[in-house]
Amino acid sequence: MNNTIFDDVFRTMIEKMPYLAVPLINEVFHTSYPEDVKITQLRNEHQQEDGEIITDSCLLIGRKMYHIECQSTDDMTMVIRMIEYDFAIGIEHAEKQGRRYRIEFPKYCVLFLRSSENTPDYLEADVIFACGPAPMLRAIKAYGLEKGIPCWISMEEKMACGVGACLACVCQSTEGDGHSHVHNKRICKDGPVFLSTEIEL
Ligand code: FES
Repeated sequence: MNNTIFDDVFRTMIEKMPYLAVPLINEVFHTSYPEDVKITQLRNEHQQEDGEIITDSCLLIGRKMYHIECQSTDDMTMVIRMIEYDFAIGIEHAEKQGRRYRIEFPKYCVLFLRSSENTPDYLEADVIFACGPAPMLRAIKAYGLEKGIPCWISMEEKMACGVGACLACVCQSTEGDGHSHVHNKRICKDGPVFLSTEIEL
């Protein structure tokens, strides 16, 4: 994590005075919230399998989430970090509706504190999301690897317990798990969405 004093100041400012973000949100997202609109601060620490990631701000206004990231330098990894952050936020606030999850990603922007000719007007990335039969996923995984495009795959498998206990839904993973050292992932518990390079197809 590249934490700078600017991130800390921005995070503290938004924590103590969230209303300061309202004009920015109105400007960037074309909303018209009044200055005294009710703002709920959502937490900035997001637990991941391989550690914790920390966002600069995550605010809830009405039913909409807003994620504003503050950046002081031209960091080429910003687009990947934003995808990572917003997936984490979306999944944390997923709503279960019967057997279906509804995942809404936050509205997001990056606030560049310094501008130069390299400061981008927008961030771009190529990402593949896929679900479907295994031969198709295999082909998509190969395409992503060939083109250097990250590929997220939603795996489907017959499930029994649905909570990671019965191992009815395992798929083969590229890495052994740190606990049992077997090359398995439980689709119900560890997925169902995996980075294509994490699983064997
Ligand atoms: S369905 Fe039982 S472990 Fe996944």
